[in-house]
Amino acid sequence: MSRLDWDSRRGRPLHGSVRIPGDKSVSHRALMLAALAEGRSHIRGFLEGEDTRATAAALAQMGVRIDAPAAGERVVHGVGLHGLRASAQPLDCGNAGTGMRLLAGLLAGQAFDSTLVGDASLSKRPMRRVTDPLARMGARIDTQDGLPPLRVHGGQRLQGIRYELPVASAQVKSALLLAGLYAAGDTEVVEPHPTRDYTERMLAAFGWPIAFEPGRAKLEGGHALHATDVDVPADFSSAAFFLVAASIVPGSALRLPGIGLNPRRTGLLQALRLMGADIAIENPRESGGEPVGDLVVRHAPLHGVELPVALVPDMIDEFPVLFIAAAAARGRTVIRGAAELRVKESDRIAAMAAGLRALGVAIEETPDGAVIDGGPIGAGTVESLTDHRIAMSFAVAGLVADGPVRIVDCFHVATSFPGFMELANGCGFAIAPAG
Ligand code: S3P
Repeated sequence: MSRLDWDSRRGRPLHGSVRIPGDKSVSHRALMLAALAEGRSHIRGFLEGEDTRATAAALAQMGVRIDAPAAGERVVHGVGLHGLRASAQPLDCGNAGTGMRLLAGLLAGQAFDSTLVGDASLSKRPMRRVTDPLARMGARIDTQDGLPPLRVHGGQRLQGIRYELPVASAQVKSALLLAGLYAAGDTEVVEPHPTRDYTERMLAAFGWPIAFEPGRAKLEGGHALHATDVDVPADFSSAAFFLVAASIVPGSALRLPGIGLNPRRTGLLQALRLMGADIAIENPRESGGEPVGDLVVRHAPLHGVELPVALVPDMIDEFPVLFIAAAAARGRTVIRGAAELRVKESDRIAAMAAGLRALGVAIEETPDGAVIDGGPIGAGTVESLTDHRIAMSFAVAGLVADGPVRIVDCFHVATSFPGFMELANGCGFAIAPAG
């Protein structure tokens, strides 16, 4: 892919209403469950990102008809639990860890072999966390020393297991539950800390009997999924950049309508409020079985905090932009218990530490977090390491920096947030492709 660098500068105070795109986690799951269901499911609010489109393409390669009547809409013609067909070509998950790990579980129970591949970043991400427990269920999946590509052998008889996750991970939990659809007996997953429960909620919405509560889920193989329509809420993780941006730019006030507020996603809201942020939830409601609301954020001076470790799993994708909030805050912020950040699309602790240092911010990296001393943010050049969330976070830093922040390699922003630059500039950012 060609290189695309951005320059982000101070703009004007941020104002207006920002339409955040659909939730990535929900969009992946909606496609997969609708594909395995009997009947036709209409998905509205679908994320038109590269990650979720890769999942759609993989399912289409296995014989699922997916129509796109309009942007943000998909009509999935479900083929039933046993209706997928072998793909002659590898299934390319692109940059998407969620796509690959969930598909690994789903494919483990098929009658045919499949190969899952990914881009350079995904090819470095650990897969044993899914292939080991799947092997205990009877799956046969070959890795390259624990890394992609994954060669999934079909025709295995899966047996349900009870599995206690060593690390809180919704992807691992979901992979096991999807394999459990094809397994004999019960599959039960127990988590060290509750993670996002979209798979559980959505399985129930598609008519599969499942028992779940925070930190635990259990289902039995051999039932059927029935098509249902899915309304995808706007992605809290994408809204996060605007929550921090409006908090740190004086004079700002933004409205972000229809944001998904599943409590397993909104840790950043609590963290920012602890730091002094002014964020209100208006029109709280339920949509498609998920809590949704309009977020209204106004500038407020932030101060550093010792981040409660219990918040970490509920904001696991929001740390890059929290680092920016901490850099722009008064005083010291201490982050602990977040070692998982090192195996995301990049090593996010190292990426943020290097970038903030390049902008003159005092930051000390620790094995599972960082200590950040807020203060002036300078101009400079930072590497995104082709990580979408690192790129967007430094675009937020540019809003309060003393001079332009050049962000190297921003093309991956489209994996989760197509149109970010235009939307951001529309409310007061000043991001331009570097010439
Ligand atoms: C996701 C789970 C999280 C998150 C990722 C999406 C999901 O990953 O970081 O962006 O949709 O299940 P882990 O399960 O690795 O924590």
